[in-house]
Amino acid sequence: MLQKTSPEIGGMGHSVKRKEDLRFIQGKGTYVDDLHLPGMVYGHMVRTPYAHAKIGAIRTEEAMKLPGVLAVITGHDLEKAGLAWMPTLFHDKQMVLATGKVLFQSQEVAFVVAEDRYTAADAAELVEVDYDDLPVLVDPHHALDPDAPILREDRQEKSNHIFHWEVGDRQATDGVFQSAPVKAGLNAFFQRCHPAPLETCGCVADYHPATARLTVWETSQAPHAHRTLFALVAGLPENNIRIIAPDIGGGFGNKVPIYPGYVCAVVASLQLGRPVKWIETRSENLQSTGFARDYHMTAEIAAERDGTVKALRVKTLADHGAFNAAAQPSKFPAGLFSICTGSYDFAEAFCEVDGVYTNKAPGGIAYRCSFRVTEAAYLIERAMDVLAQELKMDPAELRLKNFIPADKFPYRCPLGWTYDSGDYKAAMNLALGKIGYRDLREEQQQKRRAGELMGIGISSFTEIVGAGPAHTFDICGIKMFDSCEIRIHPTGKATARMGTKAQGQGHETTFAQIVAQELGIPVADITVEEGDTDTAPYGLGTYASRSTPTAGAATAMASRKIRAKARKIAAHLLEASEEDLEWEPGKFFVKGAPSKAKTIQEIAFAAYTNIPAGVEAGLEAVHYYDPPNLTFPFGTYICVVDIDKGTGEPKIRRFVAVDDCGNIINPMIVDGQIHGGLTEGLAIAFMQEIAYDESGNVQGGTFMDYLIPTAVETPNWETDKTCTPSPHHPLGAKGVGESPNVGSPAAFVNAVVDALSHLGVKHIDMPITPWKIWQILKEKGVSE
Ligand code: CDP
Repeated sequence: MLQKTSPEIGGMGHSVKRKEDLRFIQGKGTYVDDLHLPGMVYGHMVRTPYAHAKIGAIRTEEAMKLPGVLAVITGHDLEKAGLAWMPTLFHDKQMVLATGKVLFQSQEVAFVVAEDRYTAADAAELVEVDYDDLPVLVDPHHALDPDAPILREDRQEKSNHIFHWEVGDRQATDGVFQSAPVKAGLNAFFQRCHPAPLETCGCVADYHPATARLTVWETSQAPHAHRTLFALVAGLPENNIRIIAPDIGGGFGNKVPIYPGYVCAVVASLQLGRPVKWIETRSENLQSTGFARDYHMTAEIAAERDGTVKALRVKTLADHGAFNAAAQPSKFPAGLFSICTGSYDFAEAFCEVDGVYTNKAPGGIAYRCSFRVTEAAYLIERAMDVLAQELKMDPAELRLKNFIPADKFPYRCPLGWTYDSGDYKAAMNLALGKIGYRDLREEQQQKRRAGELMGIGISSFTEIVGAGPAHTFDICGIKMFDSCEIRIHPTGKATARMGTKAQGQGHETTFAQIVAQELGIPVADITVEEGDTDTAPYGLGTYASRSTPTAGAATAMASRKIRAKARKIAAHLLEASEEDLEWEPGKFFVKGAPSKAKTIQEIAFAAYTNIPAGVEAGLEAVHYYDPPNLTFPFGTYICVVDIDKGTGEPKIRRFVAVDDCGNIINPMIVDGQIHGGLTEGLAIAFMQEIAYDESGNVQGGTFMDYLIPTAVETPNWETDKTCTPSPHHPLGAKGVGESPNVGSPAAFVNAVVDALSHLGVKHIDMPITPWKIWQILKEKGVSE
């Protein structure tokens, strides 16, 4: 049990105001583009307008003639340095600057460096490239056709097939399907979307010829991993590389990979001996950096007539674009997609995924998602609704019937994961009660009789977050643990540093709260620092809701090491034996004599001024935490939607979100995480897609086409929670950041399909625009 701390200390469970917001709300944050170094110059990319074309000559003379232009770097220049290609984060390689041919629209072809940003952009227009266009492959379903163009001639395998991955028992699953009285399924496309963080990607690379030291300020969610990869790929000594990720304006997975712009800025700085800044434009960000999803999925459920589910069969085609630049653990080509049995007690399951290349931007990043759990949650939550429709059963009743029972945890699912804990019924019942489910169903019947369209969508998702454990999880061979180092200063104040790097999640507050919880030092006296590889301990960074399960746990463990040493010092100061001391947040006291006490601040001072014999001076600790398992947060989301028959416009009337992330560090921050993620889920469900036309032209490459919800479109989110602590996390906490993005798309889509189900509608692919709904209504004779 966690001891409750006072509001002054501000440990776990207190809604402490975000420390970082003091600078953010005053516009005093320091982002990469705020950096202005003496002698700094600017880089700009030349990009191809073609999706697939041979490159002939690249003429740079005119660009070089423009006053202020310092260099134009091409793929051939990089080839000479052995840097024309770089490894992706997933067993593939990617061109830094194109040589030979281009493979997607907006691919990087040359890098122009000039004294100022505008000259660099103007000069980029003057670089002339000869292209000879090639047949374009856009539809992944045709990637393996005999007449499909082979995109990656650099590979030994002359095929567009990247991988086949399967998990589960195919035979046993097929066996259940053969005899099952009910089968239901759907084809669902989780469209290509983009995290679209407010701040685009960028860097400042600063190589000092005199010291041979390279400092890179970078929008990086994983600065340590980037440092190691820079060292391995560029052959620079790792001790001479410093990566600093300053304040970051949103990452959501977009800032995990290494992009050509970073490499080119480093090369230019090495060449010129001056700092080089490169900042992406919005369109460059949307068109060329890590996209998410793009999964074409089929799910089938075998069930009894009473709705009891028996087996799940899933087949998926993954479109990775021109290079497989998925940022996910080495052993999992389809990430954690095999969590697709979700919250339900299936006896058998089988899941297979094939990845293919197309002429699109590379990626497959985990957009606010634990490596494809979003696709998995969407698929199973849609499939359960399709089954309910088939059985003419209430979707809530169907779910309640099939949930993994609370007493079955830890639960091993047929696709191999061991869920640590859960109580799905509790979350569902709370959500049903809160929204007034029964009354809504009655209202729906009345509305239908009156010819009006109203739908109720449920999603009771299960998550899988907190990668490691290191024995199974690595990125490019680097094991997925995380870390924390804490120093208690003589006056009792503390500095804590982690291997993670927040991009808006509030770590400076919540990680300070963990130290406050464990050591009783007020949260106001604790500074949290992340993102500087020269000072922070090594860690794998922040994405996939892994920070709390990994670095959060490391923070608790490092604090406990400090407390153990503090006990020794307290025993010395109180002239008592260690066993006779008791702890309450902030002080040790002698058992039975609470007035004989030493505060953590007194102990900290003694650690430097009055050290017991045989004890090292100082009060600090570091911990590298390798989690024994992932954590499995969950929740139930319910959406009520009204649809305008005339325009097809869906209006979210209510949305109730019940989340369970175990013990909560900061309820206000968790609420903020849920609000933000639900808003992203809304956008994915109704507004966003990076689509391509048949020539490979990006259709969603600006915010005019790729819509970002504003306060006008965003409904009021009604949040609540249940609490099922993780049994293996030192604080009983589970990650939460991505839950709303993972869980909500299915709730929105289920609501719209539910509103139209009496018309025979079974599924609509996202984004569900008013136009799409209106077309269906027209087809069904509802709209004119
Ligand atoms: O890795 P990332 O920080 O994106 O995700 P997370 O670990 O789910 O944490 C997101 C934010 O919510 C952080 O500030 C966490 O400390 C906070 N959080 C919390 O207060 N309580 C939890 N049980 C989980 C997260």
